[in-house]
Amino acid sequence: MRTALGLLWPAVFALCSASVWIQPPSLLRMEAINTRYTLHWDWPSAHHHACFTVQYMYSHERVWSRSVCEGVCVQSCDLSAQLAFSGSYLLRVRAESAGQRSNWSHALKFTPDEDTLLGQPRGVSLRGGVAVVTVQMAEPVGHDGTPMSHLMKDLTYRLTYWDTHIPAQVHEKDTNLSLLTLHLKPDTEYCMRVCVFSRDYHKTSNYTHTQCIHTHGQRPVLQVTLGVCAGVCVVALLTGIHYLRRKQDSSPHHHIPTILQAYTTSGGSRTLHLTTTYPPSYR
Ligand SMILES: *[C@@H]1O[C@H](CO)[C@@H](O)[C@H](O)[C@H]1NC(C)=O
Ligand SMILES: *[C@@H]1O[C@H](CO)[C@@H](O)[C@H](O)[C@H]1NC(C)=O
Ligand SMILES: *[C@@H]1O[C@H](CO)[C@@H](O)[C@H](O)[C@H]1NC(C)=O
Repeated sequence: MRTALGLLWPAVFALCSASVWIQPPSLLRMEAINTRYTLHWDWPSAHHHACFTVQYMYSHERVWSRSVCEGVCVQSCDLSAQLAFSGSYLLRVRAESAGQRSNWSHALKFTPDEDTLLGQPRGVSLRGGVAVVTVQMAEPVGHDGTPMSHLMKDLTYRLTYWDTHIPAQVHEKDTNLSLLTLHLKPDTEYCMRVCVFSRDYHKTSNYTHTQCIHTHGQRPVLQVTLGVCAGVCVVALLTGIHYLRRKQDSSPHHHIPTILQAYTTSGGSRTLHLTTTYPPSYR
């Protein structure tokens, strides 16, 4: 009896598992920015532990000959290294759980140069000068560090800027050079942000976050001349004071101004009051 049951159990288990088909992954979607392509999918029986395999082929091919992320136990697969920017592909996924394999999912069509999003510039740095702002921009790069302008030959920066006192008046400047000098008003605060776009590929990136900078004031010739004059006057004054001090030190009897000497000679309490205000060494 015991041996009969022991033989029966695996048969029952096999029967049950054969009837419970595991679902294929669904909702395939590609998260694609520049040349970083990550396939994501849903799997309805998420509470079961499952692993997956991805296949892809060029959309004109007939045979699914390429597999990637074989047996991965997460619901995503990075295909950046496999898919060429100018190719067009079909992708599908299969689940494996408790020794069973699901059917293949519906195929997803993915054409990188049409479907991928263009990332925003990697960086923008500003330097303010006398009535100028120098803008240094860094273009977006692909998954392996390749500049996106190598793939999109017409990639162009669009700089948007405005005087902070006149925010409604927005100026735009397009350039394919990464260094740009803007000639602006002196002593004014400007804010700016940058995006990149390609007309050939019908793509525009998001803008970078807004950054602000002050231009320096102009230094006109008159101001400089006045500055130099002021400097000369200060030096002359200091020299004069120094000369007077030295003269006073060498002849202490001549230090009292003539107007006070008049009081000293006239005598009286008023004279006494005035002379006592001098330091003792002068008496
Ligand atoms: C798997 O595919 C077969 C044949 O196309 C189909 O009969 C079956 O219902 C599918 N199973 C599931 C779980 O979708
Ligand atoms: C652009 O900005 C939107 C909204 O913040 C965001 O959802 C999207 O992912 C961004 N695109 C890129 C390519 O970074
Ligand atoms: C950069 O832009 C200028 C004009 O805006 C154009 O004449 C030139 O060919 C462009 N250079 C490249 C390398 O695309």
